[in-house]
Amino acid sequence: MTGQDGIEIVDVPVGKRSSLERILDESFEGWYLMHSKRTLRDIELVKAAMSSGEPVGLIMLKTLEVGSVGYVYYIAVSKKQRKRGIGKLLLEDALRIFKKYGAQEVFASVEGDNEASEALFASEGFTRTSFGEVSKKHGKLHTVSMYNSMRVVPGEVLLRKEIA
Ligand SMILES: CC(C)(COP(=O)(O)OP(=O)(O)OC[C@H]1O[C@@H](n2cnc3c(N)ncnc32)[C@H](O)[C@@H]1OP(=O)(O)O)[C@@H](O)C(=O)NCCC(=O)NCCS
Repeated sequence: MTGQDGIEIVDVPVGKRSSLERILDESFEGWYLMHSKRTLRDIELVKAAMSSGEPVGLIMLKTLEVGSVGYVYYIAVSKKQRKRGIGKLLLEDALRIFKKYGAQEVFASVEGDNEASEALFASEGFTRTSFGEVSKKHGKLHTVSMYNSMRVVPGEVLLRKEIA
């Protein structure tokens, strides 16, 4: 897929993902940095935004429920390339993929004070949800298992978007 300003979104197979670690180094610290690197190696789908052959952003995607629920695990853009619409291109591409595979809803969790991240998700129609709200739809036990898969930790807020 080709977007504005010559940005191309490509799949990154497992063996080629180490080239993206630089973006994570610039974007996360501490536990999140360690966990994002581990997730980068293991997760089912990673897409990168490429500019002139160089990766400038990435998104890591996971299916929580086959054919119904998707999860955006991590999204990050190189510091110098932020606020140019690259995060939005990556997220829009992810939403198209989830839709293609039949997802009816997509979740993401962000730190409660991560303004940039919440603004990005809000710009694509994500809104805050809660354990109680998710339980109403999926049941309490199932929601506990979903929260575990999403690794939602204290201080984070869960965001949700329904896909028409
Ligand atoms: C969050 C992040 C991926 C956003 O990427 P980006 O390419 O800069 O985002 P975009 O330029 O596509 O902006 C998308 C929307 O978010 C808004 N936004 C982006 N950065 C913002 C900021 N710092 N403050 C407020 N709003 C911001 C934009 O205005 C835009 O909204 P609009 O479409 O309504 O105008 C980037 O800041 C980043 O890599 N942060 C570090 C990693 C991180 O925290 N990831 C999220 C948790 S996994």
